[in-house]
Amino acid sequence: MSTFNDTSAIPASIRTEAESLRTDITRYQKEYYLDGRPSMSDQEFDRIFDRLLTLESQYPGLQDPTSPTHRVGSDLSSEFPEVHHTIPVLSLDKVYSQEELGAWIRKLRAQGAKDFVLEEKLDGASVVLYYQDGVLEKGVTRGNGEVGNDITTNIRTLRTIPLTLPEKLTGPVRGEVFLGKKDFQKINQTLEVPYANPRNLAAGTLRRIKSREVAQVPLQIFVYESFFPGDSDSHWQNLAHLKVLGFPTNPRTQLLTLAEADDAEQALGKFVAHETQTRASLDYEIDGLVFKVDHLGLRESLGYTGHHPRWAMAYKFESPQGISRVLAIDVQIGRTGRVTPVARIEPVEVGGSTISNVTLHNQDYIDGLELSLGDTVAVSRRGDVIPAIESVLEKAPNTPPVWRMAESCPTCHSPLVKNGAHHFCPNFSCPDRELGRLIFFAGRDQMDIEGLGSETIETLRDQGWLRDIPDAYDLPYDKIVQLPGFGQKKVDILSRGIEDSKNRPYRQILASLGVPDLGPKVAELLIENGYPAIADLFALVDQGKTEELLEIKGLGAKIVARISATFGDDQFRGLVGRLEAAGLKFFETPREKVQIQGVFSGQTWCVTGSFEKFKPRDRAMELVRSRGGQVTSDVTSKTTHLLAGEKAGSKLTKAEKLGLTIVNEAEFLALSSGLESTDDATKDEV
Ligand code: IVH
Repeated sequence: MSTFNDTSAIPASIRTEAESLRTDITRYQKEYYLDGRPSMSDQEFDRIFDRLLTLESQYPGLQDPTSPTHRVGSDLSSEFPEVHHTIPVLSLDKVYSQEELGAWIRKLRAQGAKDFVLEEKLDGASVVLYYQDGVLEKGVTRGNGEVGNDITTNIRTLRTIPLTLPEKLTGPVRGEVFLGKKDFQKINQTLEVPYANPRNLAAGTLRRIKSREVAQVPLQIFVYESFFPGDSDSHWQNLAHLKVLGFPTNPRTQLLTLAEADDAEQALGKFVAHETQTRASLDYEIDGLVFKVDHLGLRESLGYTGHHPRWAMAYKFESPQGISRVLAIDVQIGRTGRVTPVARIEPVEVGGSTISNVTLHNQDYIDGLELSLGDTVAVSRRGDVIPAIESVLEKAPNTPPVWRMAESCPTCHSPLVKNGAHHFCPNFSCPDRELGRLIFFAGRDQMDIEGLGSETIETLRDQGWLRDIPDAYDLPYDKIVQLPGFGQKKVDILSRGIEDSKNRPYRQILASLGVPDLGPKVAELLIENGYPAIADLFALVDQGKTEELLEIKGLGAKIVARISATFGDDQFRGLVGRLEAAGLKFFETPREKVQIQGVFSGQTWCVTGSFEKFKPRDRAMELVRSRGGQVTSDVTSKTTHLLAGEKAGSKLTKAEKLGLTIVNEAEFLALSSGLESTDDATKDEV
């Protein structure tokens, strides 16, 4: 295909078409992202977007940094050169109480302030957008207030930032880039090293070297100050103008006209009270409120102190931390034997709900805090959710020693063993491990036994009827039916759930036994590579030949060592023997194999994003093909399924728009092993 670098060689009709496409796309994106009322169907949007992409690649002379196609970012690395701000990028003075706020308002009223704009103080990353003749020229971080970093290519990927304005304005606009709480949770879950809060993730993303990665994070922005030469004398009106220009402004901002308020402080108090109450239900984080003088002329005469304007004040919320006392430190033992210390604290309310248990992870974590029983501690919710002890505020009287992990398991008294940062109970038959194993085995992602949730497991265990997994296949239903809360209907569901589970394929059973690291993928590798029955693995262990397993691509020394240890353990073999006697299959039949091999037949998959188990992602494509499916490199009308990994981007958006079945890595692994049917695959985003 010939290309046309020279702008003059572009036919006028093409130029006009590209311009009209850009106008339509920009209008659609505003309607979609800002107004929530798109006037065009998603398919139509994709069509015109693709057309513009084609034109721009065919005629590079059409390339323009303000084209909406630049919002998808690029894989080119960019550095962030330093840029001098053309305005002093000031921060706000702050108060922590309504009294101080009241005093400040009274002082300003005495100096002639009548109207105030009440805003939320967004907890994000401060940026300055520089426009030149109506075109976004630069996006710059706040930096030290005088010099910031040029992050323009990353800023352009934020879809709500207008790349061009309907007026030829020149000047800076200040705003805060942030990430919604739900988006934060979703993204953070996929990260190996999670961020503590949405602000850090938003700020970290803005500094990514590859703008394509930035484009995949749904960052948002609210702008709150403009510095255009023709601005009006009222901040409130300037905010309205920013909105007309196409900028996202915070709809919760209010104008308070004190002259009209019967009682100014009462009116302010109402705003503060309303915000404090509704803050938790917002999908973005605010760390305070901002009160600004509306009149720009008055602002100038009030002036500035050091780093702060005298005409604005931040009212900061107390950071949601609670103070509590450590009453006890218990240890919990999971199915793998891992010991997790948990602090029981005096119940304390933090961020709207009560915390009384806080995980302490391991001994190293406790040593880092220098935590002892009885200490007074600061408690927070990391990333607004997970309770954490932040620090010791006051040591307990007589400064007891830092808490130490017991030498032996508190439940079965076996000596604990340390492996890495964690302690483990090595006893396979430890009652806590049995319970953990049972809950894991019956769980949705393993055997998925209907009617056998963790509550039922605990009730049956308390009765002495269900100690370890095999007991589930020998339950006294005639007695269970007499337990309070267990009618015939519930017992029928349970017994049917247990009966059904006997028909699960071997690979599913093997991955449900709770052997550490032996999940669906490893089970499949073993079965597909010459070990289709558990007896094969027992034989290998007995002959001391487990190192043969290292020849299987995808199995490492760690899992092979686990297999040697577990499959050689008499207690484990006893468990398997009892399950076999109950009717569970510990081998795969050739028919099952054929079924599994055809699980993707008639389906066309597209694979996007990055994966833990499929590196490079071609390996996932190979798996689709080996199971009878077809693969496309892009989401097209033929595609039926999208496998979306971490940082899935435009293909995910497109697949959502087309209503394709979207599955994540874990679901894909289950599907490819025949553990689930593709009809049930969740359509949730990843
Ligand atoms: S006004 C001179 N308004 O809070 C104007 N700032 O310490 C100063 N912020 O660096 C900024 N929401 O990043 C303003 N509605 C809002 C704000 C806001 C968040 C941030 C901003 C600033 C810091 C102040």
